[in-house]
Amino acid sequence: MRFPLLPVLGVLCALGLSALPRPAPASGAMPVVPVVQGHYLVGCGGCHGVQGRSGRSVVPDLAGQVGYFLCTPQGRDYLVRLPNVAFADLSSQDLADMVNFVVFTLGRDSVPAGATPYTAAEIARLRADPLRLADLHGYRDRVVRGVIGACPRARELHDYDTAQAGREAGRDAP
Ligand code: HEC
Repeated sequence: MRFPLLPVLGVLCALGLSALPRPAPASGAMPVVPVVQGHYLVGCGGCHGVQGRSGRSVVPDLAGQVGYFLCTPQGRDYLVRLPNVAFADLSSQDLADMVNFVVFTLGRDSVPAGATPYTAAEIARLRADPLRLADLHGYRDRVVRGVIGACPRARELHDYDTAQAGREAGRDAP
């Protein structure tokens, strides 16, 4: 399945808009975004960046590091229990596909050896128990400590906390 840009264009052409001046044809077919990436772009990319790089200080990077969370069961659960993920307007199968894209494609080699993809049933179970915490940062910090204990190379996950602490210190300054 593809992200539904082409059907929309098809309808516009059928309505006669094809008579409008057309741009020079690109070489080959129009780029098409696979549906799972489309879901990521629409629901998450605005904050986390198209490629999973957000600059770290306000929103954590996903690219090359989100896979570390699979080092512990608590980390694995955390990724799906986050409100932005748990409440995504997607079926559990579509959300499983999208989270697997985020973890295994954007996360690249941060994924620990032997980690298995999320199933729709696992996603359904986790999203039914979303994190409802005033202090999400504090919870993330505890999860990250456990993850680093299990996978020491995950230390870069702390870059986000450090950036947060820096911003908060700046805000508290007179
Ligand atoms: C409004 C901005 C925003 C949107 C939209 C958003 N996120 Fe996030 N996301 C955040 C912030 C901020 C955090 C950090 C949580 C915290 O510690 O407060 C986060 C954390 C995460 C994490 C954990 C990474 C880490 O290092 O803690 C994952 C995975 C994630 N988001 C995935 C997603 C996915 C998938 C979507 C789309 C369904 C999404 N997010 C939508 C802002 C956003």
